[in-house]
Amino acid sequence: MKIRELIRKIVEDVKKKKELFAIDDYFIEKIVKKYLSSNAKLKNFLIEHEPKTLSRSGKYKQLIKKIRSELRKVYGVYAKKDFEKRKEFLEKRDYDSILKSHLSTKERFGSYPKLYEKIWGITGKPKSILDLACGMNPFSFGHMNIKNLTYWAIDISEEDAKLISKFFKKEKINGKAKAMDLLKIKEKNIFEKFPKFDVAFLFKFLDTAIIKSRKIAELLIKSITAKWVVVSFSTKTIGQKEMKKANRDWIIKMCKRLEYEVKVLNFENEIFYVIKK
Ligand SMILES: C[S@@+](CC[C@H](N)C(=O)[O-])C[C@H]1O[C@@H](n2cnc3c(N)ncnc32)[C@H](O)[C@@H]1O
Repeated sequence: MKIRELIRKIVEDVKKKKELFAIDDYFIEKIVKKYLSSNAKLKNFLIEHEPKTLSRSGKYKQLIKKIRSELRKVYGVYAKKDFEKRKEFLEKRDYDSILKSHLSTKERFGSYPKLYEKIWGITGKPKSILDLACGMNPFSFGHMNIKNLTYWAIDISEEDAKLISKFFKKEKINGKAKAMDLLKIKEKNIFEKFPKFDVAFLFKFLDTAIIKSRKIAELLIKSITAKWVVVSFSTKTIGQKEMKKANRDWIIKMCKRLEYEVKVLNFENEIFYVIKK
């Protein structure tokens, strides 16, 4: 099988899960290519097989699972039953279970109190937070140790925004949750009508296949209406192995060029850049 044929087949098979069907092929291809280029042995094994026999191979099935898991991680795409569960947790005010129901927040769950303590140690305790591509992170509010806070949460997922809105209401948090596509920044300043925030979070978003270029990442950081922007990246690969290049030097270089101050916080699965604009 030709490599192009193989990639096509993988993309099609990955998309057989209903909740992943709507994802752009381009992004899936990017993840597949990245995965194959770092696994030469597997790539050769896959190329040697015919499509039909490949579908039955354990190694192939494992690969499809890994790619799906990466997509869920990147996109926060979940099956309907997960959304239903989160609603039940919200009813019971079981916010830690909501945090554990999403890969990104699950990975940092044990670090939360220390993480916020360290961030506030640099930025000072904020009175307002803008959480971008937030996923379930707003449910970590209880770990922030802040009483009066204005909290805006933005994510592309309507479902997430609805759930977070309900949470803000229930806990009487002065918050707003909105569904918004951050990539629209390419066309217009999406933050034009936003108020000023003390701190903005951009956790585990910039490094994904979603962001096609660093220019977009830079544009986002520059346009965010906050004095402090905290950007984070995962330091684990799809297979939960330590990444070879866990540091994102481009962030440091970018900050130097733009004359932004930057401090680095290293946590078990994640690296944080606390940027002062
Ligand atoms: C890896 S998760 C990170 C979630 C959260 N920031 C955290 O670290 O806990 C990526 C998030 O980005 C959101 N997302 C993906 N594309 C987006 C876009 N174009 N605009 C806004 N949010 C997006 C997904 O819905 C998902 O919640």
